[in-house]
Amino acid sequence: MMKNYNNSSRHKSAPPNHSRDTKPLGGWLSLLFLRFSLHDYGFCMATLLFFCMGSLCYQLNGGPPQILLEIRRYLGNSTFMDDHGPPLPRVLPFPSQVIYNRVGKCGSRTVVLLLRILSERHQFNLVASDVHNKTRLTKHEQVDLMKNISDIPQPFLYTRHVHFLNFSRFGMDQPVYINIIRDPINRFLSNYFFRRFGDWRGEQNHMIRTPGMKDEERYLDINVCILENYPECSNPRLFYIIPYFCGQHPKCREPGEWATGEGKTKCQ
Ligand SMILES: *[C@@H]1O[C@H](CO)[C@@H](O)[C@H](O)[C@H]1NC(C)=O
Ligand SMILES: *[C@@H]1O[C@H](CO)[C@@H](O)[C@H](O)[C@H]1NC(C)=O
Ligand SMILES: *[C@@H]1O[C@H](CO)[C@@H](O)[C@H](O)[C@H]1NC(C)=O
Ligand SMILES: *[C@@H]1O[C@H](CO)[C@@H](O)[C@H](O)[C@H]1NC(C)=O
Repeated sequence: MMKNYNNSSRHKSAPPNHSRDTKPLGGWLSLLFLRFSLHDYGFCMATLLFFCMGSLCYQLNGGPPQILLEIRRYLGNSTFMDDHGPPLPRVLPFPSQVIYNRVGKCGSRTVVLLLRILSERHQFNLVASDVHNKTRLTKHEQVDLMKNISDIPQPFLYTRHVHFLNFSRFGMDQPVYINIIRDPINRFLSNYFFRRFGDWRGEQNHMIRTPGMKDEERYLDINVCILENYPECSNPRLFYIIPYFCGQHPKCREPGEWATGEGKTKCQ
């Protein structure tokens, strides 16, 4: 009795300390064992094994095992196709007729280099015109060009420095237009230096563009040009971009609200 009493009294006093030390660990362990008993673990492994074997059979037999086919026959012939219709034909994630009408000095040469890489990777026809100085066309030239563009095997992307063309006006499919423009001030700066020195991508660039330019003009400081109102800088031709969006109508080349509005409409 005494012994027991002593023991039990020692136990009584001991447990608080003891349990305070081990309860967190013991608690977690018991929780784990509670959740994952050996029985559950075995069940998990068996399920995994079952799936592995099933998948192996599936692959070795080149199709689902007989039992699955039978289950399906039992459930009826309803398939994914019955519920959702036949799969959609594989379509390209982009339209099959695209025109990029490059606006000068807006990085279009870089874009065309990029498009060339993309055309190889995504297998579309890239046709880049080498006419760089004819953006407005007579009606006859327009029709000629549009016929040529429409004859390119689809999917195609045609690119040229040319004002917007209205294909539907002449009964042709209107291609999708894409374009990239630049902040007008940056475009002006780029053009100012391009006219004088080319863009360092070909020594002949400025020789072709401004062969007659006098050194005095070529080396003119742009600050002087602006501050002293040289014609080139007092009229920076900010309107230049608009006809690319507005189109071939003569009014598209008259700076004003009509052309700007028309250009905006075609962007929508
Ligand atoms: C399921 O399809 C098979 C073959 O296509 C056909 O012989 C069978 O009658 C169909 N069963 C039902 C319930 O439609
Ligand atoms: C365009 O450039 C070509 C040479 O590259 C020249 O023969 C032609 O006259 C130029 N056309 C215009 C409208 O400036
Ligand atoms: C249209 O294509 C023909 C033949 O390739 C070519 O001779 C003609 O100059 C092209 N016209 C235009 C406007 O590009
Ligand atoms: C093309 O022209 C037709 C008729 O002139 C006009 O109705 C249509 O809006 C024009 N299309 C575009 C995209 O401007």
